[in-house]
Amino acid sequence: MTRDAISLVPVDRDNWREVVDLEVTPEQRAFVAPPARYLTMCAYDGVWTPLAIRFEGRIVGMLMWAIDPDDGACCLGGVLVDRRWQRRGIGRRAVEHALARLAEHGATSGFALSYHPDNQAARRTYAALGFAETGEVEGDEVVARRGPASDGTDA
Ligand SMILES: CC(C)(COP(=O)(O)OP(=O)(O)OC[C@H]1O[C@@H](n2cnc3c(N)ncnc32)[C@H](O)[C@@H]1OP(=O)(O)O)[C@@H](O)C(=O)NCCC(=O)NCCS
Repeated sequence: MTRDAISLVPVDRDNWREVVDLEVTPEQRAFVAPPARYLTMCAYDGVWTPLAIRFEGRIVGMLMWAIDPDDGACCLGGVLVDRRWQRRGIGRRAVEHALARLAEHGATSGFALSYHPDNQAARRTYAALGFAETGEVEGDEVVARRGPASDGTDA
């Protein structure tokens, strides 16, 4: 599968139901909120923007991004791939796609995200894309950062 087999598309009137219907496994529910909660947050908090992950004409996941007003870092959150589509490289490629797109559109201060320390799938996905844990914590999650360049410099 090439990165181009996956696209990130706006959540819109045609696909929002597919986003709401995305499911993670029961064990993973401890790590993320339901998609409907993320979409509602994006609709009302004026901070986060959601994107749907499309693969072979279907919506198979979602993620969202925001700029941290304190340091300009581009934050990723709500990254999830439907349980039926996991472990096929979609999560990693979707995040890679998002980083490239956001860097092109001005995310020059690097990227930040957080995940529960027990979340091995998240840790592996992000580590492979150059994210390094910084020692910061946010609630019960660890923070990882990466520079704007794909080699992970300037984090
Ligand atoms: C994290 C998530 C988006 C990864 O999506 P995915 O499409 O399955 O990921 P990929 O197939 O691209 O795999 C990426 C890496 O994660 C690893 N991985 C995927 N699922 C895993 C699992 N259940 N347990 C351990 N590692 C896992 C893969 O092996 C791969 O690492 P590797 O190349 O070092 O072997 C997906 O597991 C998910 O939606 N989880 C629930 C929501 C969540 O926790 N989101 C992150 C919140 S911070």
